Amino acid sequence: MLVSAEDMLKKAKAGHYAVGQFNINNLEWTKAILLTAQELNSPVILGVSEGAGKYMTGFKTVADMVKAMIDSLGITVPVALHLDHGTYEGCYACIEAGFSSIMFDGSHYPIDENVAKTTELIKVAKEKGMSLEAEVGSIGGEEDGVIGKGECADPNECKMIADLGVTMLAAGIGNIHGKYPADWEGLSFETLDAIQQLTGDMPLVLHGGTGIPEDMIKKAISLGVSKINVNTECQLAFADATRKYIEAGKDLEGKGFDPRKLLAPGFEAIKATVKEKMELFGSVGKA
Ligand code: 13P
Repeated sequence: MLVSAEDMLKKAKAGHYAVGQFNINNLEWTKAILLTAQELNSPVILGVSEGAGKYMTGFKTVADMVKAMIDSLGITVPVALHLDHGTYEGCYACIEAGFSSIMFDGSHYPIDENVAKTTELIKVAKEKGMSLEAEVGSIGGEEDGVIGKGECADPNECKMIADLGVTMLAAGIGNIHGKYPADWEGLSFETLDAIQQLTGDMPLVLHGGTGIPEDMIKKAISLGVSKINVNTECQLAFADATRKYIEAGKDLEGKGFDPRKLLAPGFEAIKATVKEKMELFGSVGKA
């Protein structure tokens, strides 16, 4: 069932667990994530970056594929199809294409412009029954070629953006996209606590879920994080399983070169990663 992320995240915040956002890149990724969510009776958010959208030939292709797959696989758990780190133009393109949720990443605009654009997009999203995620404080690491450091958001700015009526709020708390460097200082729970005290019931979003130690994930959930984004970890698991298949020479045995065989270990590796995360986030059985 394709739905906005609003209800699933409100329930998650109230129930002290988090819903995973897993980014998709192609048919195999989408199928692996949807099947795992259904098997575990968990709500799920499919994340699509602007780069991944282009790769899959456009947001309409993605939305049509996801809707058709939900139907043909008989997926009954709540699924949100969400634009990840959207530009202003990208948000409109996804509204048009039939997504159920968008993230407007206005964190690089001056706060006044972020507020103005976010306000406008909230109005449009609400009219369409879609959820909207906003971001305050840039999240470090590399995302579609843009590299930033893991900053901490200003809790007062978070409150200002939350009060505009966004559905969920991403706030930088020292988290970064991609692998964490060996000298990473960890998440700033002090910042997270201050943000949650000011924003109350607002579901908070933790980006850069790859490689955050389990105890930090649990603590973040206890302090109001209700959505956790995971991308790189599925990519690493897929690449590792595919490399093992090739290194073992399996593509040279019989019809081992058939893409349906060659991509199968990577597909299973994505499923295992998503399962592990859903168990850690506590969303199993919450559909
Ligand atoms: P990772 O690639 O570090 O898991 O981050 C994913 C993310 O935050 C997508 O917005």
